[in-house]
Amino acid sequence: MRITLYAATLLLVVPAATAQLNVWARIAGKQYFGSATDNYELADKPYFKQLSNTLDFAQITPSNSMKWFATEPERGNFTFAGGEEIVAFAKKNRQLVRGHTCVWHSQLAPWVEAGNFDNATLSTIVRDHSYNLVRNFRGDFTHDKSTGMSSTAFNEDGTFRETVFYKTIGPSYIDIAFHAARKADPKAKLYINDYNIDGLGPKSTGVINLVKQLKKNKVPIDGIGVQGHLIVGHVPTTIKENLQAFADLGVDVAITELDIRMTLPVTPELLEQQKKDYQTVIAACRAVKKCIGVTIWDWTDKYSWVPGVFDGEGAALPWDEDLKKKPAYDGIVDGFTKL
Ligand code: G3I
Repeated sequence: MRITLYAATLLLVVPAATAQLNVWARIAGKQYFGSATDNYELADKPYFKQLSNTLDFAQITPSNSMKWFATEPERGNFTFAGGEEIVAFAKKNRQLVRGHTCVWHSQLAPWVEAGNFDNATLSTIVRDHSYNLVRNFRGDFTHDKSTGMSSTAFNEDGTFRETVFYKTIGPSYIDIAFHAARKADPKAKLYINDYNIDGLGPKSTGVINLVKQLKKNKVPIDGIGVQGHLIVGHVPTTIKENLQAFADLGVDVAITELDIRMTLPVTPELLEQQKKDYQTVIAACRAVKKCIGVTIWDWTDKYSWVPGVFDGEGAALPWDEDLKKKPAYDGIVDGFTKL
């Protein structure tokens, strides 16, 4: 296993026995291990302290405050304070930042759909939104060299999701967003990001075909974000091959929103399986050279999105509601270290 000079230095200052998630990620040749966060969570002092720990987290993704509802509540009225607060937090800790996200059909500002805009007008709206969002954070994303561009463009069968963007503009709304973002910040790396593309299958094939088409049309795409919202005991057996298939397109890959949920109540057996599942996912990224890093979708069950959406499910993250590490933490370490 090639150990970079940075990693070797880390090991000198951070004894292996106490090495933490980002230390092991860097030793495994990855750019970062990171976590999503939301603005209201930063008021929680013990949470704030752990999120600031760059031995575990060297990268931050704002889970909500850069989305359309938060950044352009009315057409042409851009508000970036929420995203800027999280970028300031990350910069203070010298953590990398992944922007999230230019174009997503969910958490849109209501005016985008209510406007019943025609193709030309909505194309301009998508262009202006993507340009202004990425422009405002110009240089912030270059640390992580990435920003979430377009999220969840596909249905489970690999066809395009019938979003207001797709129905009005067609698939070229994605091209428009990417070109605008590249113009806004030539150094930001631009990703397509989706869920349920963790293993081989029709949705992953849809992403592969899209990336091939975007590259053929000289659309500036740099990476594929595999969200990784998974279920204990059901990590796709083809995850490594799938990440490699994405990388073989000549783009980077990142696991961007990892959490592995279980049906409650928590049991020792479920925690043990969750540990194994985290190890499997991390080991898959480790095995694929162009898999640049892993971001968990927050780090503590206390702030996970899962219970609010999946009734009776939760406990998806490596720390519990009391901010105590779970066996999943060691599963992540094992994924970066065990052969
Ligand atoms: O801000 C309001 C608050 O004012 C209100 O009191 C409260 C109760 O209604 O809702 C708050 O908004 C919530 C928002 O998160 C901010 O906390 C929304 O209800 C809630 O639906 C929203 O959930 C977010 C979810 O996306 C929406 O689909 C999660 O926090 C966020 O983690 C989650 O993240 C997405 C990624 O962006 C894309 N990939 C999937 C992932 C999970 O859905």
